[in-house]
Amino acid sequence: MKLASVILAAGQGKRMKSDLPKALHPLLGKPLAWYALEAAKQVVHSTPVMVIGHGADQVRQVLGDQAEYVQQETQLGTGHAVMQAEPVLAGKCDLILVTYIDMPLLTAGTLGKLVEQARTNPGSVSMLTVTTIETRGFGRLLRNTQGEVKAIVEEAQATPEQLDIHELNPGVYCFREGWLWEALKRIQLSPKGEYYLTDLVGLAVSEGQTVQTLSVDDPNEVIGINNRVHLAQAGALLQQRINHQWMLAGVSMVDPSSTYIEPGVTLGQDTLLWPGTYLRGETCIGSDCVIGPDTIIQDTTVGDHCTLLASVLEGAVVEDHVDMGPYCHLRKGAHLAKGVHMGNFGEVKNSTLGPGAKMGHFSYLGDATVGAEANIGAGTITCNFDGTRKYATEIGEGAFIGSDTMLVAPVKVGAGAKTGAGAVVTKDIPPHTLAVGVPARVIKELKK
Ligand code: UD1
Ligand code: CA
Repeated sequence: MKLASVILAAGQGKRMKSDLPKALHPLLGKPLAWYALEAAKQVVHSTPVMVIGHGADQVRQVLGDQAEYVQQETQLGTGHAVMQAEPVLAGKCDLILVTYIDMPLLTAGTLGKLVEQARTNPGSVSMLTVTTIETRGFGRLLRNTQGEVKAIVEEAQATPEQLDIHELNPGVYCFREGWLWEALKRIQLSPKGEYYLTDLVGLAVSEGQTVQTLSVDDPNEVIGINNRVHLAQAGALLQQRINHQWMLAGVSMVDPSSTYIEPGVTLGQDTLLWPGTYLRGETCIGSDCVIGPDTIIQDTTVGDHCTLLASVLEGAVVEDHVDMGPYCHLRKGAHLAKGVHMGNFGEVKNSTLGPGAKMGHFSYLGDATVGAEANIGAGTITCNFDGTRKYATEIGEGAFIGSDTMLVAPVKVGAGAKTGAGAVVTKDIPPHTLAVGVPARVIKELKK
């Protein structure tokens, strides 16, 4: 049976009190809607159809081709929202999974189970339910004395007795396509002036169909985000989930509650994370590393056996056996080869340090290439910017840059060359020579 996914995202999300559409509020570095898309894609294997309305252009722009979009011009309710998908899905599938963008903790596992159930359900409606005392404004599930589903009543329309029901409607359904579009057209306007998707349940029952339910084991999965308190709660729960997965996969965390790992990050076995570690974006960390405390790593690849202490890394590559920190900053295009040592207060941007290179104290390298085993003395700076353009610096293999050397780019220091303390290098220094002074001049040849 062919399956399609519809994700509702047209609502305003008024209670977020925001200019940003709810779908785009960041949650662990991803827009809220990303979670619904991911879960749906894992189950459905075709591009989800997203119903957008408020902030439609922005949502489209940010999410791009992750979804196929249909627009709901006025927000006339959840039933009306699903109706908008008819032109793109009618006759193209057998089952339609409906979810919301604001339920980021819902897992593909649960959706998969619902779909499995829907495949064998002869009726047109299969849905999730959750039983919990925290009713959170959810619709209540009405059952008859035989325990069969009769209808869903919205909280606003529920009688006091109905409000006491704790079996709730999370709003996740799997419908038979052949029935859905016709049935949607038969929904009556609610007292609130909306077409309620929930009315399809009563409608199916009135036709003598059996509505099947699947109870969610963990009520946290169906926490909906209506305001920023919910957003923070969901963030904490997601973080717990991600951290648990990594700990079970062999990553140690001294304090998981203060360890922040975004989805999309990968980690190797026997890596240890100290508190205050933030791993963001497309970051890959190898095995046997010690990271933190207080280290922020974004869109960076780190090899095995690295020690990164109290540092910030962005858009960098760090090979095996690198040790760094405290207080280092790797910026975009920094590449530290195997065995590089970088001591405190180093900054590297768009530069490669060769294997075994050392940069112990207070240095800046920008647009530079440093050969293997070179030593960058304390306070060395590449003067790579003349106010208009950036220029490259080349430091050869085994070169020894004296403390407080200024390398005025474009400039080259040959392999095995040395600079004296305080040298201001404005011209290339040949290999295996010693240059000193301001501006630096060669004063002798060095033994190879
Ligand atoms: C809905 C259910 C309720 C359920 C709850 C669970 C109905 C009538 N009620 O109520 O039984 O317990 O979800 O979260 O369905 N949306 C649109 N277009 C619209 C209206 C809504 O796209 O015209 C989208 C919203 O962006 C949101 C989702 O549908 O993603 C749910 O809408 P919302 O207004 O939050 O429904 P609830 O009142 O929470
Ligand atoms: Ca809601």
